[in-house]
Amino acid sequence: MKVNGRHYRTIWLNEKDRSTVQVIDQRKLPFTFAVLDLRTVEEFRAAIQDMAVRGAGLIGATAGYGMYIAALTSPQEDALAFIEAAAKSLVATRPTASNLAWAVNRQLAAARSCRSREAMIRTALDTAQAIADGDAEACRRIGEHGKAVILELAQKKKRGEPVHILTHCNAGWLAFVDNGTATAPLYAAFDAGVKLHVWVDETRPRNQGASLTAWELGQHGVPHDLITDNAGGHLMQHGLVDLVITGADRVARNGDVANKIGTYLKALAARDNAVPFYVALPSSTFDFECTDGVSSIPIEERDPGEVRFMTGRSADGSLATVQLCPDETPARNWGFDVTPSRLVTRLICERGLCEASEAGILGLFPERKA
Ligand code: MRU
Repeated sequence: MKVNGRHYRTIWLNEKDRSTVQVIDQRKLPFTFAVLDLRTVEEFRAAIQDMAVRGAGLIGATAGYGMYIAALTSPQEDALAFIEAAAKSLVATRPTASNLAWAVNRQLAAARSCRSREAMIRTALDTAQAIADGDAEACRRIGEHGKAVILELAQKKKRGEPVHILTHCNAGWLAFVDNGTATAPLYAAFDAGVKLHVWVDETRPRNQGASLTAWELGQHGVPHDLITDNAGGHLMQHGLVDLVITGADRVARNGDVANKIGTYLKALAARDNAVPFYVALPSSTFDFECTDGVSSIPIEERDPGEVRFMTGRSADGSLATVQLCPDETPARNWGFDVTPSRLVTRLICERGLCEASEAGILGLFPERKA
């Protein structure tokens, strides 16, 4: 996608120095656009853990490149053992998004099939690039499939009225390699001339909606308004939301959806107000082994400091962190929740749309039936 008119992916290999991978440092957005160099497994691990990179698809792609750097920096003797240790440390960074373990396991299988360290390095780079390219292409297709949903709603609108879409967190191109999932249909419809408007949930505590989705939509010229996390139900009651589209960090075989904390409440409000609730995801986000998302998807619990403090730009332009509660107030900070499949209208994947149920999902992925 474009930043100040120039096309960027969120992660790429530095072609002049193929021992360096570069990423957009999302901790600095929306105030500063900065590129971060990653050269060691430890730097990859820290970038995922500290959320310089975040979002299910991008975490997977970053782990994919991290495994290439593991192969490249591995010792001549015992390269595979080094790569396996790197895999363990990368997978341990964030527990909820499926894409992380999916990418690492794909790299591990590729490494184990190689006979020499040189072959492992070559194969790991090819695999990392394939994961990144696959992610971007899946998101592009999700955009095309999801565009049809928006077009249908647009046809029911009075002339000149926009389709109002609510989204939560950032499942935009910043959360993937390119295009995004929840935002891909918006961009595709907008580029096709559909009049639309987006309600952007701020998404406490890390405010990915305010700092990332609002920035992305602004860069693309899509009309939007930032709203508090609690405003969605009110807007739905008053007919101001035509559609909710979110992303997903893990979707179970039965169609239950893990996504950023607060998604479940949006789905409940959508159901109560007969607003369609769509979830967009690439196939790498499915966990076909998990048969019940509500009871089994691991939910990341993060530093309570993210709830107690907030960082933003102050009047003089500098970044400031402020405390929101009394000194002694304890806090808890779950990063995700699970929306039961019964509240999801449809899933939008790169293969098309399906019901959020085992039968619906396996209809699109028959190879997973066994
Ligand atoms: O904690 P994050 O920012 O990595 O969370 C992931 C998300 O951005 C959302 O849950 C998103 O909707 C799904 S990931 C594309």
